[in-house]
Amino acid sequence: MTKEELVALAIEARERSYSPYSHFAVGAALLCRDGSVYIGANIENASYPLCMCAERTALYNALLDGKAQEDFLALAVVADTEGPTSPCGACRQVLSELFPPEAPIYMANLSGALQETCVHELLPFAFDGEDL
Ligand code: THU
Repeated sequence: MTKEELVALAIEARERSYSPYSHFAVGAALLCRDGSVYIGANIENASYPLCMCAERTALYNALLDGKAQEDFLALAVVADTEGPTSPCGACRQVLSELFPPEAPIYMANLSGALQETCVHELLPFAFDGEDL
């Protein structure tokens, strides 16, 4: 699957966002080695801190289906942003524990912007289980 195809799936996933408070819909698509793709979208709540990001819903969706870090090949995230959509700090922390550090993360928007990065770039010097 090309990165453009993965971004297209993230754009489709974004349609499922439940974001009545921020009106900021985000979509994500997580590609696995076996070719399966897990989608995610942000899901908000009137109790704002309970809002869940698209990247994490995709990741948790995959984990709950039995996938693990070594199964993940790439992640795409997209929103209606001016430039490429950048994962928030909380998602960076979660990705640093559950997503391969060098695997591609495609930050995209609805107008064709597409920038590739990885967890290692997004969150250098991450806090992890070894620090406990
Ligand atoms: N959001 C995501 O889904 N991913 C991010 O990386 C940034 C923020 C969501 C959370 C909330 O529902 C809305 O975007 C506004 O912050």
